Amino acid sequence: MKKIMTIVGARPQFVKLAPLAKLLDPISEHMIIHTGQHFDDNMSQVFFDQMNIRTPDLNLEISGGSHGKQTGEMLIELEKVILDKCPDLVIVFGDTNSTLAGALAASKLHIPVLHIEAGLRSYDMKMPEEQNRVCVDHISTFLSAPSERAVQNLKQEGITKGVSLTGDIMRDSLAMVSTTNHVSDKIKCIKNEVNGNYVVLTLHRASNTDDKQLLTNIINLIESSPFPVIFPVHPRTKNKFKEFNIVPSSPIKCIDPLGYLDMVKLLKDSTYVLTDSGGLQKEAYFLKKPCITIRDTTEWVETVENGCNTLVLSGVNALDKVAFTQALTADVSSLQFPPVYGEKNVSQRIVDLIFNTV
Ligand code: UD1
Repeated sequence: MKKIMTIVGARPQFVKLAPLAKLLDPISEHMIIHTGQHFDDNMSQVFFDQMNIRTPDLNLEISGGSHGKQTGEMLIELEKVILDKCPDLVIVFGDTNSTLAGALAASKLHIPVLHIEAGLRSYDMKMPEEQNRVCVDHISTFLSAPSERAVQNLKQEGITKGVSLTGDIMRDSLAMVSTTNHVSDKIKCIKNEVNGNYVVLTLHRASNTDDKQLLTNIINLIESSPFPVIFPVHPRTKNKFKEFNIVPSSPIKCIDPLGYLDMVKLLKDSTYVLTDSGGLQKEAYFLKKPCITIRDTTEWVETVENGCNTLVLSGVNALDKVAFTQALTADVSSLQFPPVYGEKNVSQRIVDLIFNTV
């Protein structure tokens, strides 16, 4: 049996792991290693529970600290784990510090690495996520690209060997939960309160949260929304609100981070998605919801090109209330959401790739 190690650590990676683990568990010696990067129950355990992912084989409990410290500690510990378990393949997802540490530890030990969600580029090298994904792509053996654009991005950097256009695995994650009729009391309660059109907001990019003036401006801007704004607050943003003494007010409604089922339910019934997260832009697209992204760049460029996603420049002086309100109230009834990120069964294509090539 092939020994396959998947390394996860942050919320979006648990979501991507779910459909793959379901396929890998019965046919391989599959080890799940959690770095511990996200540790609160509502940022980690709830995803394992709701998406039926078994308990990780090991949790390294490494979280917080600076990027260098966090990534360095993960690298040290993951090297030990890989040396001990000798996997045939290490799989990493996305663009987090856990992704970088996992790929680097395996690559230095000459263990093949499969990067899922390869080839995405925002071309903003100040973003830690961009630094991580560029480095990981260049040291990976196999690259699962979600779109034709991602394949082209890799080609431009000279990466053609080991690249497969598989489509985006989050399609499968969403499909896993889309048929559930689960509506938690929490969501029922929120929906009763808003009663009609509402916006779902997520905001946690360091570039938006770590500057007091910018974060204040962004919150002021969002407070001008004509619709209620439901805001599951990421721990980083919560800490920054406390540090900067910012208290978002109506129509923003702050709530604790949501599990995947609740988040998908909330998104499905929303009018607009407002975010600075990569995953949310794509989930909005899959669920055919217009999106406004509070960033200067995006790695999911197809969503913008198709008119389904609008970038609202987030520089301190660039936020424009008029443009924001216009975007939120624009007629979106004729928007098209072509399947640029592939069709379903992406995880099966990835498994085929593993078993045919590794
Ligand atoms: C990370 C990823 C980002 C991903 C995001 C999803 C990197 C560079 N960034 O950003 O790509 O989109 O996760 O959420 O890896 N914290 C808690 N409880 C938790 C998790 C985090 O209190 O459960 C705190 C941390 O201690 C830290 C802050 O929140 O102070 C930020 O967490 P961190 O892991 O550094 O990165 P994210 O901003 O979540």
